[in-house]
Amino acid sequence: MGRGADLRRHPRPQCGRARARQRADHHREGHAVGGQVNIGVVGCGAISAQYFRTIARLPRLRLVAAADLDLDRAREAVRPYEGVEVMSVAELMADPRVDVVLNLTVPAAHAEIALQAIAAGKDVYCEKPLAATVAQAGEMLRAADAAGVRLGCAPDTVLGTGTQTARQAIDDGLIGRPIAATATMMTPGHERWHPNPDFYYVPGGGPLLDMGPYYITSLVTLLGPVRTVIGAANRTRSKRTIGSGPRQGEEIPVTVDTHVTGVLVHDSGALTTLVMSFDGAATKSPNIEVHGEKASLVVPDPNRFDGPVLMSKVGQDGWSDLPTSAGYVDAGRGVGLADFACTPAGTEPRTGGSLAFHVLEIMESLLASAHSGASVPITSTCARPRPVALLPSENT
Ligand SMILES: NC(=O)c1ccc[n+]([C@@H]2O[C@H](COP(=O)([O-])OP(=O)(O)OC[C@H]3O[C@@H](n4cnc5c(N)ncnc54)[C@H](O)[C@@H]3O)[C@@H](O)[C@H]2O)c1
Repeated sequence: MGRGADLRRHPRPQCGRARARQRADHHREGHAVGGQVNIGVVGCGAISAQYFRTIARLPRLRLVAAADLDLDRAREAVRPYEGVEVMSVAELMADPRVDVVLNLTVPAAHAEIALQAIAAGKDVYCEKPLAATVAQAGEMLRAADAAGVRLGCAPDTVLGTGTQTARQAIDDGLIGRPIAATATMMTPGHERWHPNPDFYYVPGGGPLLDMGPYYITSLVTLLGPVRTVIGAANRTRSKRTIGSGPRQGEEIPVTVDTHVTGVLVHDSGALTTLVMSFDGAATKSPNIEVHGEKASLVVPDPNRFDGPVLMSKVGQDGWSDLPTSAGYVDAGRGVGLADFACTPAGTEPRTGGSLAFHVLEIMESLLASAHSGASVPITSTCARPRPVALLPSENT
């Protein structure tokens, strides 16, 4: 991550956690300079197949090792790919071939696995959220900083053409000064389709920590960092029923809020209204809208890489499609890992830990605000990640 002074867009003092940013100048030169980057994956569950497909087609990445608590699951997951050795987590951490640990475990295990990777002197890229709590994430940042390794985090969907084209429109001044945004995610919950949905209903999960990273990372990309949040939340049921797979019909406990709303006050003064819910059947609201003095934008689903960006100018009847102008084309999950692994030393990765930490602090603070009834200042900040030019994803 970059140095604090470079990242400040607002004169608020940073707290100790924010000062735990990694110092880019401490990073070893290593794999960013060229050649292939060897990946060792920990966690071979539902999302791993998407990563493996992307890694297999990106020339800079090579999957060399895989680990999971369930070694049979790991073997099954990597079966289509040649040359991937299945091993224990400890063996993977000790394997000198592994340059970057790809952490695809459940959120509650993100910190434990990341800290092991950092202790082994390896860069680590986590699935979202960065950790289950800000306290854990702060420990990860401090450990990575001290070890001189890099920490990165999903989501990478915002590096695709959808969010990036919208960002370019804002940066080019097409909507004038951004004033406000709305972000809406409404679903009945993932237990309908995920065979092991327990983690969605314990700390680190819930609609906000599960889906919020896509939306809030997109909003920080579009509108910059956030300085204060105001939240309100509900928990409608204490149990959920698994809807598919071998555990179909089993009830699982719910220990997190399942309908979360709030306002994010960006440093720029723009206000985002956020709704993240596992308690609604469906919605026709756009995933994200951004409103400026001159025009409004509809931004595509931040859980996808692409999608149309629509704009309506003040006085215009209807909406126009903006041409795709920026972002990785035909991207898949893992493109952010490649972008991270190939970022030269001294440069903040677009999927760097300071952004993921800021997003996590925003989410945790929204929940704290919902429970206290008071607004909560955000102590961390980050730069808007560098924009992505219109590029084939193979060029990461
Ligand atoms: N499923 C999705 O559609 C999806 C989409 C995007 C992101 N994600 C994120 O990806 C991560 C994983 O989600 P998933 O759906 O693949 O979960 P999953 O439960 O299907 O898989 C997680 C895997 O991690 C393994 N694991 C857990 N703790 C471990 C530990 N300490 N050491 C080694 N292995 C361990 C489990 O055995 C399991 O195989 C989560 O952070 C989630 O938010 C999931």
